[in-house]
Amino acid sequence: METNKLKEILATLTVAEKVGQLAQVTPDFFGKSGEITGPMAQWSMSEEQLYQIGSVLGTHRAEEVQKIQTEYLAHSRHKIPLLFMADVIHGYETIFPIPLAMAASFDPLLIEKTAAAAATEAAAEGIHVTFSPMADYVKDPRWGRVLESNGEDPRLSKVLTESYVKGYQGTDLAKNPQHVAACVKHFIGYGAAEGGRDYNTVDISDVEMYQNYLPAFQGAIDQDVKLVMTSFNSLRGIPVTGNKELVTTVLRQHLDFDGVLISDWAAVAELINHRVAADRKEAAAKAFKATVDIDMMTDSYLQELAKIVAEEDALAQLDEAVWRVLKLKNDLGLFENPYRGMDTKVDTTSLKQLSYQAAIQSAVLLKNEQVLPLKTTENILLVGSKAVTKDVLGAWSWIGDPEKATSLADGMSTRFPQLEVLTVEEASDRSLISTALQKADKVVIAVGETSEEAGEAASRADLHLTDSEKELIEVIHQQKAAAILVTFSGRPLILTDVADKVAAIITAWFLGTETGSALAALLSGAENFSGHLPMSFPRSVGQLPYSYQEMSTGRPQTQANQQEKYTSRYLDEENGPLYPFGHGLSYSEFSFSQLTLSQQQLTEGQTLTVQVTVTNTSQTAGFVLPQLYFQDEVTEVIRPKLELLKWQQVFLAAGEATTITFEIAATELAYVHADLHRRTDPGRFRLFLAKSARELVAESVFEIV
Ligand code: BGC
Repeated sequence: METNKLKEILATLTVAEKVGQLAQVTPDFFGKSGEITGPMAQWSMSEEQLYQIGSVLGTHRAEEVQKIQTEYLAHSRHKIPLLFMADVIHGYETIFPIPLAMAASFDPLLIEKTAAAAATEAAAEGIHVTFSPMADYVKDPRWGRVLESNGEDPRLSKVLTESYVKGYQGTDLAKNPQHVAACVKHFIGYGAAEGGRDYNTVDISDVEMYQNYLPAFQGAIDQDVKLVMTSFNSLRGIPVTGNKELVTTVLRQHLDFDGVLISDWAAVAELINHRVAADRKEAAAKAFKATVDIDMMTDSYLQELAKIVAEEDALAQLDEAVWRVLKLKNDLGLFENPYRGMDTKVDTTSLKQLSYQAAIQSAVLLKNEQVLPLKTTENILLVGSKAVTKDVLGAWSWIGDPEKATSLADGMSTRFPQLEVLTVEEASDRSLISTALQKADKVVIAVGETSEEAGEAASRADLHLTDSEKELIEVIHQQKAAAILVTFSGRPLILTDVADKVAAIITAWFLGTETGSALAALLSGAENFSGHLPMSFPRSVGQLPYSYQEMSTGRPQTQANQQEKYTSRYLDEENGPLYPFGHGLSYSEFSFSQLTLSQQQLTEGQTLTVQVTVTNTSQTAGFVLPQLYFQDEVTEVIRPKLELLKWQQVFLAAGEATTITFEIAATELAYVHADLHRRTDPGRFRLFLAKSARELVAESVFEIV
């Protein structure tokens, strides 16, 4: 629709109709047409108000959307179509690995493809907006929502966030109804919840926010993300959803976001729980002034906004908010087709193949003392709480049917004819497990979290395996069996006390619909591992929050001063993690040459070319991920000792060598200064080629003049 016509529509709306556009309900509000149903009565909402509502959250099927949209359009005076929103986080019906797992692929293209595929399935069921990607910066795996993140590196997270937006939205939403609008969340600081406890208070500095928290949001906005969601948390004393100063100066001005801002679920009314608003009216006023356009799932706007607008003479601001919502509907092509997307053809077979491919690229081989790959002729015993379960999809797979997923046992039984599986109960019988172990050449122990134990409202203070899981590992260890530990989780676990008791460890996260088939292919060597940790596996909970980007301190611990007391260290634990960011093995072995730099000095506008030759020294073809880190030697504000700068995924046949090139623009070495501006300083920089944040294999120096 032409902008002028849209403006005309806006001009014809009453204040009540405008307010309606900013409110959202669940589908059950439309239960039986004409009747005041349970939820409507709770909100003391009239039928008239229902047919002024702007959006709906949580439909499942196209028929439901069709029915609600038709009923709504028949009753509403203005005939503005409803927007349908949902959490499509890692797939709709075909479930892909959780985002943290997919970040292990370090593969922006893969993520773009999975997002586009998820959009197709969701659009076919009438969904217009997905509440994804989550761009929160994280470094505390106690927080269950690290599951939805891209891990602990801001640069990787930014690139992957951009991929999600590109995949979901495509190029033109009106012309391509198989795509959906994306909503980047949660603005801002949610991942820094104190103590890793979900919804808890956050206090981070401006430098920290601009340096680490905002870039992924900026990336999404640069990709024209249509919506942003505010976070539940307070930041420096003020809940974000009601923080006018923060939202208007940082999100609207600095990040230049002019799309729809939606609150998180009930976050407007929760300003009362935060005790910064006395009642719904004050809560609504604060959120509205902070330019929150849509009140997700409370009736604060619906009941209070008209009064606020009248009292504060804020009609112009109301119009701006409604305009943003109307514009989104128009960008989606809803005025032309309120049933957009529903005739999308979904190729389920290719989606399943993509899910399998994503699972292959997301699993991470942490340790392998020559026990893997398993031979299909070997006697394999499979035990543990995750051996037969189909609870492998992960927390945000609400439409995904676990029954359609392959469990590890399903997958392995097709590849290993001599597989024996013991249930948890059977494995707790010592004589049964002893006999089974005697017969077995190798044993696969599958343990870890349930989907309930990771995700939103799933913070944990203890990240070890459970006592019974550790006991099982111990029993197997005592019998000297060649054991392979496969852990399922939505977060890095603490494996310090079990790592030495097994010969191999695989992080299987929640890999989605094709979990079992992908893991079995990897275990057998039919596929090779290529995943690398996007988040460090700490040694102890006491180290948290932890990121490989350790800052320089006045008393750094070094190789030389290990025994000194007055350095930045623990008395009872190492500083470093058990498995670092970037770590990931494969069945291939690679060697790296030294770095060759195009020049030793460059000016601010120039680009440095860095080359390295990588050789596959093994008999097995595979992917290698050379990682380039840097250190700015002297800076105005403290900077990490090491920061990821570039990476490349390269496939090499057995014995093959190739030279790869990294182009580094001087601007990519910029950091946020005390004045909150991001710029590159002249001076010396160190470049490191690495296998992980803790395994540096080559080093070089250059200067910006
Ligand atoms: C979560 C959001 C989610 C929303 C809608 C909230 O509880 O924090 O991430 O998009 O619910 O389901």
